[in-house]
Amino acid sequence: MDLKAHIRGIPDFPKPGILFYDISTLLRHGPAWRAAMERLAAAIRPYRPQLLAGIESRGFLIAAPLALELGLGFIMLRKPRKLPGATVGLDYALEYGTDRIEMQADAVAPGQRVVLLDDLLATGGTMAAGVALLRQAGAEVPATAALIELSFLNGRQRLDVPCETLLRYDD
Ligand code: PRP
Ligand code: MG
Repeated sequence: MDLKAHIRGIPDFPKPGILFYDISTLLRHGPAWRAAMERLAAAIRPYRPQLLAGIESRGFLIAAPLALELGLGFIMLRKPRKLPGATVGLDYALEYGTDRIEMQADAVAPGQRVVLLDDLLATGGTMAAGVALLRQAGAEVPATAALIELSFLNGRQRLDVPCETLLRYDD
């Protein structure tokens, strides 16, 4: 199955000059979505995760089905003020301004092995913040993974853990 054939490049979204890699067309196609999840499952299984984490919102579309596939639990890293109960959060820098992600303070047990998933690795800022937040909550993060990597943005250089990606784009 050629998964790239199911990803659509949409020019000038969300801003002029940006080519947006749209996973909607892959999610819409049952066999392609299943093949993508099976391949990602195979890529992260060797890291022996005990739990999977996904980053709101598109990361949830990857992490939740993968957790089911691997027979693991799933936890959410969310945008601010979305999660009930005690939370821990982390502010991180964007190209312009800052953003914040939060998780429930009791979501992971100390030393639990959590693999972090997102749909896309671009500059790596989001994934790096997710890794830092999981560690702050007591997790061990043996790896991260994403369906798509925009390799020309060198996002993996911002990570101190491996990032398993299925589909790489060089421009
Ligand atoms: C996109 C994408 C990743 C992140 C990657 O999320 O889903 O989470 O950007 O960018 P980075 O590597 O440069 O940090 P977005 O903020 O657009 O939100 P969404 O997932 O809610 O659509
Ligand atoms: Mg996202």
